[in-house]
Amino acid sequence: MNDAADQQQTNPLREGLTSRAVPQPCAIVIFGATGDLTHRKLMPAVYNLAADGELPPAVVVIGFARRPKSDDEFRKEMEEATRKFSRQNVRDEIWGTFSQSIFYHQSEFGDAAGYKSLAERLDKIDKERGTRGNRLFYFAAGPDQFETILKNLKDAGLNRAKDGGWARVIIEKPFGTDLKSARELNRIVHEAFDESQTYRIDHFLGKETAQNILVLRFANAIFEPLWNTRYIDHVQVTAAETLGVEGRAGYYETAGAMRDMVQNHLLQLLCLIAMEPPTDLRADSIRDEKVKVVRALRRILREQVSLDVVRGQYAAGAINGKPVPGYREEEKVDKRSTIETFVALRIKIDNWRWADVPIYMRVGKRLPKSATEISVHFKKAPAVLFNKEAITLDQNVLVVRIQPDEGISLRMMAKIPGTSLRIEPVKMDFHYGTSFGKASPEAYERLLLDAMSGDATLFARHDEVEEAWAFVDPIEEAWHAKDAPELYFYPAGSWGPEEADELLARDGRAWRRL
Ligand code: BG6
Repeated sequence: MNDAADQQQTNPLREGLTSRAVPQPCAIVIFGATGDLTHRKLMPAVYNLAADGELPPAVVVIGFARRPKSDDEFRKEMEEATRKFSRQNVRDEIWGTFSQSIFYHQSEFGDAAGYKSLAERLDKIDKERGTRGNRLFYFAAGPDQFETILKNLKDAGLNRAKDGGWARVIIEKPFGTDLKSARELNRIVHEAFDESQTYRIDHFLGKETAQNILVLRFANAIFEPLWNTRYIDHVQVTAAETLGVEGRAGYYETAGAMRDMVQNHLLQLLCLIAMEPPTDLRADSIRDEKVKVVRALRRILREQVSLDVVRGQYAAGAINGKPVPGYREEEKVDKRSTIETFVALRIKIDNWRWADVPIYMRVGKRLPKSATEISVHFKKAPAVLFNKEAITLDQNVLVVRIQPDEGISLRMMAKIPGTSLRIEPVKMDFHYGTSFGKASPEAYERLLLDAMSGDATLFARHDEVEEAWAFVDPIEEAWHAKDAPELYFYPAGSWGPEEADELLARDGRAWRRL
């Protein structure tokens, strides 16, 4: 079956409040199966789905990697990883059954024979396990391997649906390093897989509260009339981490916070906050609206970069009272590295809804706490009655907490009880944990399930990715030019360089205290 047609059939419009995708039996082939991502995220995610009864019985995982290993050895390794990283305790009886569906396939990524034998093995698994010719290829290997894997899958005929089944590919970031390379990668992907078969993962979209943004905006009637330049003063997006580069220097030295987080995760969140209501909930209807937002982002041209963008790098400092080294002292980092571990930006969206509403974004490693949130700051109440002279009331702020403590809060003004008139800000607060009393699934769980169900809503489309690079490229170019704007240092454990505060102070604003 053609995958686009399949999407329609299994997922008719994703309509209604109770809509949910139905995962189909399939074989998940993970390229780069012995890597960090498989250990920390993928295998625990599949296990949790199985433990929660979310998977059809016929789901098989095949690890594809270079090192020689037996199925049993691989199972043991996956068990250890899952016990370590799973969000719920691993139950022996569930693992016992689940592990029988895990296999290992040893091959070099560039060895055609390895793909031929994979194809044969998948055929056999289809017959024995009922996976119905459905194949999900997960690219968890380094991006330098993507082209080789794609070519080999194609040559082995694994890119095409077989016996009424489907073939899909999930591609991890980084999806290119600039517009040119992203276009080239899209071209290469499309040589083997159609866009309808391609799932570019951005795990931020799988986070529960990120998904809730559209519900908040479009399932409630009260916010949408206010959601524009008339009522919104500005928006802030913060993604703060206490972690440093954590042994990923090889990759991070070529990426930096802009490519690692802004180009993908932060711009995706911004799209959800800023997009127009889609006409329906089809994947492409939503993605059509998202791409319009990125297209409308005012490009920060080279001469403007030093005014609108602040880049920083952490120096030695302390996190939770524990001393930590500076970025340049981390293993495998160049002692003179100018890679940014912090970015703050002022962004404008050139469309009717958002004209003149600045969007401030900041992202950083080794900040005082790990927290991701979006805050929408509404305009001040008119300077009459309660909001005049010496008393300046706070603005209403709607905060969407992506993590931790997922939830939404609204700051408003209230009278302090008593005989005199004193006004203070109070918070209306919704916490997922207490309102629903159950832990949210991990982003990877949701996204894997969606890919197995043929629902691409929470995956980035080729044009979204390219537009995001078109926005980021001029900034990167300015940073790599001879007269590059300065790189500011901040002590680990602080909220980034002072210049990031000045970026807002110049506009008479300040970052929200997290
Ligand atoms: C990844 C980045 O995509 O997201 C990491 O490569 C970052 O550098 C991570 O730490 C943050 O994700 P999360 O889900 O832990 O907030």
